[in-house]
Amino acid sequence: FQPKYLKGKKVLITAGPTFERIDAVRGITNSSSGKMGFAIARAALEAGAEVTLVAGPTSLKTPVGARRLDVESSKDMLAAVNAAVSKTDIFISVAAVADYYVLNPSEQKIKKDAHILTLELAPNPDILANVAGLADPPFCVGFAAESENLLEYGEQKRRRKKLPLLVANQVQSAIGADDNEVFLLDDHGQHKLPRAPKQEIARAIVQYTAKLYHEYHKP
Ligand code: C5P
Repeated sequence: FQPKYLKGKKVLITAGPTFERIDAVRGITNSSSGKMGFAIARAALEAGAEVTLVAGPTSLKTPVGARRLDVESSKDMLAAVNAAVSKTDIFISVAAVADYYVLNPSEQKIKKDAHILTLELAPNPDILANVAGLADPPFCVGFAAESENLLEYGEQKRRRKKLPLLVANQVQSAIGADDNEVFLLDDHGQHKLPRAPKQEIARAIVQYTAKLYHEYHKP
């Protein structure tokens, strides 16, 4: 039994990688299975929330009851998030968004020859920082996967993106795995959720998010 502590709340979640086209068959992406984001969506649904899940390319099954919007590129993800965000109470940004897109993608498959091929890459907009910077933003939760200096880099990201809560995890122990170990960083400091299956970690993250959200929105 799960208490319905997010009943009536609208939760928007991004999950999975994004895919930036190089040509008709190739692209640039990040390593991300989408498992953590989908687990968070299930946990939010269990807690009674109305969930919109914006998903990059993944073969995971839609959590029962979620509204799912499939996207490919970071620009698509930004557009889907912008279209949904005005009615959102809580935004949880789990997606591993590609940092760059290809400036000059080819519609046809590029033929290989002996020449050196140069790709021109331009930075993608930061979806989460955009949402957190809105005049009346939803309660924003970010994720950070780091390969070193986890807590320091995580806290820097939280401050730079102006987030009340950031979930930090070690790249080596998180990606593709079925379990995870994370740190929650917020104004109260940091605390560790010990290694557990991603669904259990997701429940704890959603529960903590709801607690902070209610603290921020006390009448
Ligand atoms: O890539 P980075 O480590 O900065 O990601 C931290 C957080 O920002 C994650 O929650 C991720 O979903 C979000 N992000 C985003 N748009 C980007 C890059 C990251 O929403 N272009």
